[in-house]
Amino acid sequence: MEKKKVFLTRTLHDFALKELKKCYQIEVHSGKIPIPRKKLESKIGEIDGLICFPYDIIDSKLLEKAKNLKVISTFSVGFDHIDIEYAKKNKIRIGYTPEVLTNATADLAFSLMIDVMRRVSEGDRIIRKGSWKEIYGAYDYTGSDLQGKTIGIFGLGRIGSTLARRAKSFDMNIVYHNRKHVSKTKEKVLGVKYVSFEKLIKQSDVISIHVPHTSKTDKLFDKRIFKKMKKTAFLINTARGKIINQKDLLEALKKKTIAGAALDVFELEPIRKNNPFTKIPNITLTPHIGSSTKETRVKMAKITMENLHLGINSKKPKYSVGY
Ligand code: DGY
Repeated sequence: MEKKKVFLTRTLHDFALKELKKCYQIEVHSGKIPIPRKKLESKIGEIDGLICFPYDIIDSKLLEKAKNLKVISTFSVGFDHIDIEYAKKNKIRIGYTPEVLTNATADLAFSLMIDVMRRVSEGDRIIRKGSWKEIYGAYDYTGSDLQGKTIGIFGLGRIGSTLARRAKSFDMNIVYHNRKHVSKTKEKVLGVKYVSFEKLIKQSDVISIHVPHTSKTDKLFDKRIFKKMKKTAFLINTARGKIINQKDLLEALKKKTIAGAALDVFELEPIRKNNPFTKIPNITLTPHIGSSTKETRVKMAKITMENLHLGINSKKPKYSVGY
């Protein structure tokens, strides 16, 4: 019997490719990232399984062309790049990679918070420019303490809760906003207090976003929100770029409506070399590396492979969206 066909929009670890090759005919896209739409369209009709990444837009227009597709296995915890409803209706299984990347992503959010509040990357840029001498004064180049500050965690799921544990050990006050309160026991263990979204925006010295991108959170952080935040506040985003109105954030940072921001995710990725964010001092930028540690990426590759294997054989993936 002919082996089933699997297409990967980017390469994966060797051990995973080797395993996949034992059971399937695999083809890995090489070259331009993200994969050009035309190429993806030309493949989708003939494959049984797809391994994709958050940059790939797997919408209904693309999926309409799929004839044999049984499973989409995404190398990510986020799945807003996939039309879940269409996939479900057409009995295409979806696998994703939660849990294993919780620590890595919370660590990155925490390190971005320290970075922007203590002006670490900004200092690195100043040295590289040869401008150290311009910031010699005792108060010329000061950051903000974390201790005693209020962190507002927007979304107290796995990553938000892990970030809360990090913040507690730095003696920060922690407030959170979620669709639902978490249990009183969990609030006590984490040392967190539930507040309305409005209060979170107004009270926090630093806000960290940990919600998915949906129609409700699309461009939620815009100029109206920035105006309500403290002038001394910082915004951290390791969730999804589209939750922030980037134009409004740029304006808010330039006008000092808020003090600073640190972003790992953007509306369109990768951002261009000349993106206006690269021209202002009070922002730290990282290239979507929330889950990017060697250990975490190996675990994600394993799950991506297992999810594909189950889904392509009409079984529920280990970590499944929907059914
Ligand atoms: C995910 O897995 O969705 C993350 O954004 C990747 O870093």
